Amino acid sequence: MDTSPRILFVCLGNICRSPAAEGVVRAMDPTLTLDSCGTGGWHVGEAPYGPMQQAAMARGYDLSDLRARQFTPKDFARFDLILCMDGQNLEDVEAQRPNGAKTPVRLFTDYAPQLGADKVPDPYYTRDFDGALDLIESCAKGLLKSLN
Ligand code: 4NP
Repeated sequence: MDTSPRILFVCLGNICRSPAAEGVVRAMDPTLTLDSCGTGGWHVGEAPYGPMQQAAMARGYDLSDLRARQFTPKDFARFDLILCMDGQNLEDVEAQRPNGAKTPVRLFTDYAPQLGADKVPDPYYTRDFDGALDLIESCAKGLLKSLN
């Protein structure tokens, strides 16, 4: 992988966790090529979920320009690294891996092993938007460290 990989963040709906991850990592390093998407298509075209946007904005992350899209197998060719918010997302992405595609697919939480988390819990259900952002910020710092 080169020094500035194209990174895709994946969750289920692409309105809470993965757009937050995209926004946080972009704020920490505006030079990276980043995108996010969801394995599900229910929210395609929508901006991030209001409460997620508000919690992110309170920390200085503006997610308002992002729009949800669905993961496609073509993303394996478009990105150098695919980071999933939970194990189900990872399973769903791996199930669409084209023959011969080498792009690594990992859990975002792998970048914050000190926390012992195996997923970013979905705040759409837990309602813990700040807890999700705390975890995302830790993973983002670990990710950037791994790239440098
Ligand atoms: P996300 O949260 O995967 O973090 O974007 C979700 C938001 C909405 C739905 C699922 C997950 N939904 O099914 O509507």
